[in-house]
Amino acid sequence: MSETQGKICLVTGSNSGIGKQTALSLAKMGAHVVMLVRNPERGEKARSEIVKQTGNSSVDLMICDLSCMEAIRHFTQEFKKKYSKLDVLINNAGAMFSKREVTSEGFERTLAVNYLAPFLLTHELLDLLKSSAPSRIINVSSGLAKNGNVNLDDLQSEKNYRGTKAYSRVRAPVYANTKLMVMMFTYELAKRLIGTGVTANVLLPGFVATNLGKNSGSLSSALMFKMVRPMQVNPKKGAETSVYLASSNEVTNMTGKCFAKKQEITTCPISYDKELQKQLWNRTEIILGLSDKNNKKQIPS
Ligand SMILES: NC(=O)c1ccc[n+]([C@@H]2O[C@H](COP(=O)([O-])OP(=O)(O)OC[C@H]3O[C@@H](n4cnc5c(N)ncnc54)[C@H](OP(=O)(O)O)[C@@H]3O)[C@@H](O)[C@H]2O)c1
Repeated sequence: MSETQGKICLVTGSNSGIGKQTALSLAKMGAHVVMLVRNPERGEKARSEIVKQTGNSSVDLMICDLSCMEAIRHFTQEFKKKYSKLDVLINNAGAMFSKREVTSEGFERTLAVNYLAPFLLTHELLDLLKSSAPSRIINVSSGLAKNGNVNLDDLQSEKNYRGTKAYSRVRAPVYANTKLMVMMFTYELAKRLIGTGVTANVLLPGFVATNLGKNSGSLSSALMFKMVRPMQVNPKKGAETSVYLASSNEVTNMTGKCFAKKQEITTCPISYDKELQKQLWNRTEIILGLSDKNNKKQIPS
């Protein structure tokens, strides 16, 4: 019997690309997979395909738009009503946008989906992960993180928004910044979780043929993604490291590490800046209203 048999694995953004393949592979190993998706129709289509292909009917669908922090809080309440344990959380969902957009809650959309969402989802599920220990948190970053930077005074990219059109230029798009933040969040989280039995690791999936960038709102970036398709690996290959970190005994006690191609790797020097990791964490708690006793959000200017 596989070690993953019966484990409850929550995979965000699992109706498409790397997330869908991750959900499928874990379902194949006998896990109880919970698919967090934002669109019920796309979600159900993927869920039924996974059930059909794996023969595992323990694949659940839960709806949540990760650009909305209120929706995440609601989701975690519903999740806890349904499930009394959580063995693996995979923060996989991500998106790119060509133009700066602000959500109804006042957050720049790339920051909200790619960074604030995994931070808040993890925060809200941490008690469950701790009581389910040994348990694992797996965050999906990107090789582009090495081009990113963290400007604590402009987390919302009001002064300098670089969308997907900036993808191939020297200065990094906001997407890269959010992926660097995911990395630094993972390293800080791992430190804070020492002794709890909950591990936190981050991964780079490689260059994968998925829907990423297709719906960025920019025709030129959609075209660019089409052109680079021959250089990309398929989602099955792209999901290998996520599945490895979720299921392998080899990483049971590994935490605070970054992986690519199922191997531990070193990331860019700034990602290991302990002071910046701490400052980013504190700033994020303030933005999300997690450090304030009254739970009042402070949207940064
Ligand atoms: N593909 C690559 O080469 C590559 C490289 C490095 C890192 N990554 C990372 O890998 C992860 C998976 O991306 P992918 O390449 O598989 O792209 P994808 O096919 O576009 O999948 C992204 C998933 O995230 C979901 N998502 C986006 N916004 C959401 C929201 N507001 N609420 C809930 N779910 C949302 C999408 O749902 P919808 O279908 O409803 O939009 C989709 O299921 C992302 O974190 C991405 O940054 C990808």
